[in-house]
Amino acid sequence: MKEVVRVMFLGDVVGRPGREYLRVRAGALRAELDLDFLVVNAENAAAGAGITGAIARQLLDAGIDAITLGDHVWDQRGFESEIVDLQQVCRPANLPEGCPGRRWVCVERDGVKLAVFTMLGRQFLPPRASCPFRGSDALLEEIRAVDNPTLAVAEIHAEATSEKIAFGRYLDGRVAAVVGTHTHVPTADACILPAGTGYVTDLGMCGPYDSVLGRDVDAGIRRFLDGMPRRFGVASDDVRLCGVVFDFDVRSGRTIRFQPFREDAPVAPAGASDGAERASGVDTAGEAGNGAKP
Ligand SMILES: [Fe+2]
Ligand SMILES: [Fe+2]
Repeated sequence: MKEVVRVMFLGDVVGRPGREYLRVRAGALRAELDLDFLVVNAENAAAGAGITGAIARQLLDAGIDAITLGDHVWDQRGFESEIVDLQQVCRPANLPEGCPGRRWVCVERDGVKLAVFTMLGRQFLPPRASCPFRGSDALLEEIRAVDNPTLAVAEIHAEATSEKIAFGRYLDGRVAAVVGTHTHVPTADACILPAGTGYVTDLGMCGPYDSVLGRDVDAGIRRFLDGMPRRFGVASDDVRLCGVVFDFDVRSGRTIRFQPFREDAPVAPAGASDGAERASGVDTAGEAGNGAKP
């Protein structure tokens, strides 16, 4: 078994521009950066809101090992039945009891088992999730009992930086890394916490940065001017992949190195405009879980 395992985590994949560039680059990135595992949050992969089974399979086929999701998990009609068959996809673990889908993913390569799970934060998000802190205690025990992974990584899908940092500190020394998602804006605070857990408040998004969080700039501004319902189309330009690469020490299960990652697409991929998926793309500004939120 390897002594050091390299894992890339990429933030929220947004729409066709994000997922197409990721599909083109995933296999090459694995080779170029000598990655052992590649994990992405893809909660905005379909038209900027949610994911479909077909899109999940496309990403997995392109070389993604595991897909995590967030508050947009059920935005695409029918995904609640599709997720059941997707072994490498997990929904937030602290959704209400009875929700379909896996609460964690455990993938194995060269004798190393990597477990990944996501918790929704509860600050400034719809109040449907149970406590991510106490929930992680129980879930980590369950993951160890069921899969006995070599390495475990927790994702905190949350709005508030305070909640994300507190979550990282709460799990410091108990998981290999804690990565934040949901805000779509990469933070410059990647670090190794005192007890050895790698941490970043937000990985950033994989999608068009000439935008407001991946959506059209004009609609993004108007939402705050008049609050009227309108279509929030996925933007198309300045496509980037964003995340962090961690090197984990297999023996200790902790982070020994990290490197923030950003790659800009050379040009906007052809056919970058979105909207072909099942979502209507119509947003009602101000409603919980609407498409303009990350
Ligand atoms: Fe989100
Ligand atoms: Fe997101």
